[in-house]
Amino acid sequence: MENLFYDIDLEKVPKHIAIIMDGNGRWAKSKMMPRTFGHKAGVETIRKVVKECSRLGVGYLTLYAFSTENWKRPKEEVSALMTLLVSYLRKELDELHKNNVKILTIGDITKLPEPCVIELNKSIEKTKDNDGLVLSLALNYGGRADIIESIKSIALDVRDERLNISDIDEDLFSSYLSTKSIIDPDLVIRTSGEQRLSNFLLWEVAYSEFYYTDIHWPDFDEKELQKSIYSYQKRDRRFGGIK
Ligand code: IPE
Ligand code: IPE
Ligand code: MG
Repeated sequence: MENLFYDIDLEKVPKHIAIIMDGNGRWAKSKMMPRTFGHKAGVETIRKVVKECSRLGVGYLTLYAFSTENWKRPKEEVSALMTLLVSYLRKELDELHKNNVKILTIGDITKLPEPCVIELNKSIEKTKDNDGLVLSLALNYGGRADIIESIKSIALDVRDERLNISDIDEDLFSSYLSTKSIIDPDLVIRTSGEQRLSNFLLWEVAYSEFYYTDIHWPDFDEKELQKSIYSYQKRDRRFGGIK
């Protein structure tokens, strides 16, 4: 394969990479530009990373794009992020579809502005039969909120006698989460130096490998992605056993 910057074993790329795309604001600030300039640049990185994941044969890519806590930001910034989401989908949908990418969302998208909901539903519908990279966009997503929603649905199913308490196990619980059709992440990447989860995929990361880099999201690229995969491949995943 061309353009391999690290000695990656293409037979063993992580099946699911989840990314906390952080540092757009700091990147913009370092250039004395407004935060939204950083978010725009961040969209370019999304394009590159989606393509590269497809090329390398990653099965699932989950991108943390907007958390349940991000509503705390100034409303101008929130609205700029939503507008960018709509324009990304409008511009990229055909190309994503051509590349056999299947688009999903996790999180409560019903609380997003209407144009976002419309564009997302269109993208999900158009790409639903694709069997290439599964691209999940985490939007108005919070790990805790997702767990609570799941518990409520399970409680209702028990109350209405569709489910017995004895049926509740880890697999059943997972099947109520918004990540139900996605396997657990093998590798979680966070850019921009922060080493925390910020409410991302709390249940699903039980045995994920973590990779942190100081690089801000707008400067992340194919080479950095490969570096993270290379680091992942050097690790010994024991899942509690011995090797
Ligand atoms: C990530 O960059 C984008 C979103 C959270 C939507 P930030 O906006 O968090 O950038 P920093 O962390 O303030 O630099
Ligand atoms: C996490 O980044 C959320 C997304 C990347 C969408 P934040 O920038 O919101 O997280 P904190 O506030 O630094 O924990
Ligand atoms: Mg941040």
